[in-house]
Amino acid sequence: MKVAVVGATGLVGGEILKVLAERNFPVTEIIPVASERSIGKKISFKGQEFTVVGYDDAIKMKPNVAIFSAGGGTSLEMAPKFAEAGITVIDNSSAWRMDPTKKLVVPEVNADVLTAEDKIIANPNCSTIQMVVVMKPLHEKYKIKRVVVSTYQSVTGTGKAAVDQLFAERAGDDSVAKVYPHKIDLNVLPHIDVFLENGYTKEEMKMIKETNKIMGDDSIKVTATTVRIPTIGGHSEAVNIEFENDFDLTTVRELLAATEGVIVQDDPANFLYPMPITAHGKDEVFVGRIRRDESQEKTLNLWCVADNLRKGAATNAVQIAEHLLKKGLI
Ligand SMILES: NC(=O)c1ccc[n+]([C@@H]2O[C@H](COP(=O)([O-])OP(=O)(O)OC[C@H]3O[C@@H](n4cnc5c(N)ncnc54)[C@H](OP(=O)(O)O)[C@@H]3O)[C@@H](O)[C@H]2O)c1
Repeated sequence: MKVAVVGATGLVGGEILKVLAERNFPVTEIIPVASERSIGKKISFKGQEFTVVGYDDAIKMKPNVAIFSAGGGTSLEMAPKFAEAGITVIDNSSAWRMDPTKKLVVPEVNADVLTAEDKIIANPNCSTIQMVVVMKPLHEKYKIKRVVVSTYQSVTGTGKAAVDQLFAERAGDDSVAKVYPHKIDLNVLPHIDVFLENGYTKEEMKMIKETNKIMGDDSIKVTATTVRIPTIGGHSEAVNIEFENDFDLTTVRELLAATEGVIVQDDPANFLYPMPITAHGKDEVFVGRIRRDESQEKTLNLWCVADNLRKGAATNAVQIAEHLLKKGLI
């Protein structure tokens, strides 16, 4: 497989290269693509060096699949050009996620929706991915009515410049370009992406709409508050889930422990619960603090954490490529 990685010099792009190598995706050639300022730079993959090229050259090199993580504008403009050339695009930006003609895929949840006709496939928002992986088995067993989620999101979710801002502030350097409207070190920002007319942020509305689309069920009500915190390991979420049917906690734990891509870390007596520092660099979604909401019947509280650059972006995209390959769709 010839694989183009568009945005190869960025945080997600770098992680995509690592994940492709670690999972032994059958790569014969990497075609790294980035902005004009990076053309000619070298990118290393499994000990081999590949030169960053522009879009036109990348298309001419006829990759089998192109994994995009170079922003929504780039995807809107360039993904159709790759698709027209017969190249399957897996896109990490928000550009195509809510387009009714495009599939929005988390392989553990809805890989079966993919067909050979899907030439641009959308990878969901990082906060949505980790939540639906946990929701899916619970929905099948108990039917989810409503979800209330509050997120605690890593600065790596904003990209390289945000990580630079955090560490510069920590080092007392005020000269670095600011990505956030406020200081992020030693702070918490109840603000991710732009504010909308309804008072929510775009990130919050992404979590709401994307969840319904991936779960294939508009009856699930979702409300979200998304928050940026000064960590780098991954996104954390406090999730409150109300079900149609009652549950018992032992079965919930067993169900989650048996779910592909989920690891239960739930032993509070021994201080075992998911944290960004332990989820960092891992591909799974970690779940803990599983307990009944004592204020309302048939309602569960849990805490889930995943590395947003891995399962929230790179790993999910590579898993989509693996699925396409396994099913003979690329
Ligand atoms: N970070 C996350 O957790 C996460 C999760 C899911 C999805 N995403 C999405 O993934 C994308 C990249 O995020 P990131 O965190 O990796 O950002 P980043 O670290 O800022 O990297 C951005 C990448 O895009 C490239 N790029 C920028 N403008 C371009 C253009 N006009 N043409 C071609 N390449 C261009 C950059 O190339 P240069 O180095 O040449 O500038 C760089 O490779 C965004 O769409 C983001 O929404 C991010």
